[in-house]
Amino acid sequence: MSLKGYRGEILSLSHDPAEAPDAVRHEADGLLVIEDGRIAARGPYAQLAERFAGLAVERLEGLIVPGFIDAHVHYPQLGRIASHGAQLLDWLERHIFPAEKAFADPVHAGEVAEAFLDELLRHGTTSALVFATVHSASVEAFFAAAEARDLRMICGKVLMDLGPEGLRDTAAEAQAETEALIAKWHGRGRLGYAITPRYALTSSDAQLIVAGELLRAHPGVLLHTHLAENAQEIAEVAARFTEAVDYLDAYDRFGLVTERSVFAHGVHLPDRSCERLAETGAGIAVCPSSNFFLGSGMFDFAQAERHEVRLGLGSDIGAGTSLSLLHNAGLAYQAGLPAGYVLDPFRALWLATGGSARLLHIDGEVGSLAEGQEADFVVLDDAATPLMARRTAGATLADRLFALQVLGDDRALRQTYVLGRCVWDRDLRHGRA
Ligand code: GUN
Ligand code: ZN
Repeated sequence: MSLKGYRGEILSLSHDPAEAPDAVRHEADGLLVIEDGRIAARGPYAQLAERFAGLAVERLEGLIVPGFIDAHVHYPQLGRIASHGAQLLDWLERHIFPAEKAFADPVHAGEVAEAFLDELLRHGTTSALVFATVHSASVEAFFAAAEARDLRMICGKVLMDLGPEGLRDTAAEAQAETEALIAKWHGRGRLGYAITPRYALTSSDAQLIVAGELLRAHPGVLLHTHLAENAQEIAEVAARFTEAVDYLDAYDRFGLVTERSVFAHGVHLPDRSCERLAETGAGIAVCPSSNFFLGSGMFDFAQAERHEVRLGLGSDIGAGTSLSLLHNAGLAYQAGLPAGYVLDPFRALWLATGGSARLLHIDGEVGSLAEGQEADFVVLDDAATPLMARRTAGATLADRLFALQVLGDDRALRQTYVLGRCVWDRDLRHGRA
């Protein structure tokens, strides 16, 4: 048995603060006690010190928050971040599909998976819901890399039988390969599986039927896809799925809208879709930096809140411009404001941690630094740059948190811990044994 204590300022959200005003849990001088990778106790240092007298305690300088949870990201697109000149459909053709073709090669997939996980941890992201490519090898490579690092990760093979030449499967292959990957990886250690049709336009009806059957057959598995991101995309979906009343309904008709369904974007949703999302318990991974970068639009937080739609926060690399969920939280604030929605910094932190965890059905294990949860956490430096130091000196907790979101990125990530082990230390530039 290993027992270790970390002393410092601790902040987490036990619930969505929009629903529960007492959701903020903050200890200015707290103690986190870790036993075999899980949180055995947490509270004010003064209250716990006696109970844990003799415990080896390390002091952490900064703000300890749960490890970030990226609710939508494409690992194969890592190297295509910042690709110039197009909105969604042209961007996919010009930049993304050519890059994804290379993931037929397991060696390439393995190299990118390692680089991606290095980057995630450097940005304080300890869990994610991840798109691979159409190739089973890309999923194998990702899960193997995540397993070697003991990370809680969810991934899936992309289903796209209407994809471009060289990046296409069939409905039968989608079924057989997804079944095999679920059997091998789902529930193995900290890994989980997501059935991953790319989006409505790249799967035939036959393949969408297969996706629905797979989802019904595997109760613990998620459904992960894109929804209502871009105007041209939405028009093409309406033209193909003439029976569907809206984009979400195109998925619903195949049994793909359930409480285990995670839809990226949802930038342009009719109220009916929001009602249906809320009624089923399905949710949206909000991806603000991607929505700005591709000119897709701005997520309507007020509409989602009115309908009580479940939300998490995603980077959507490579359309997103930063893996940092701090930075994405700052952009979420900026996306909400033109329509009059003022995103509270605590709610933004919730979206990046507990909200994403709930969306991904891993909130029993991670996301709020509650006793019994796995000890994935990060240490933030609210004075990471001279300007941040100037802004945060003497500021309230809310203002410090907001400054971290608006001004912070990987530079504000002092340390990342996975199962209580330091896997990234900014000043050492690597993890610690
Ligand atoms: N819609 C279908 N595929 C993609 C993708 O790779 N990225 C984004 N942002 N949207 C998509
Ligand atoms: Zn995406």
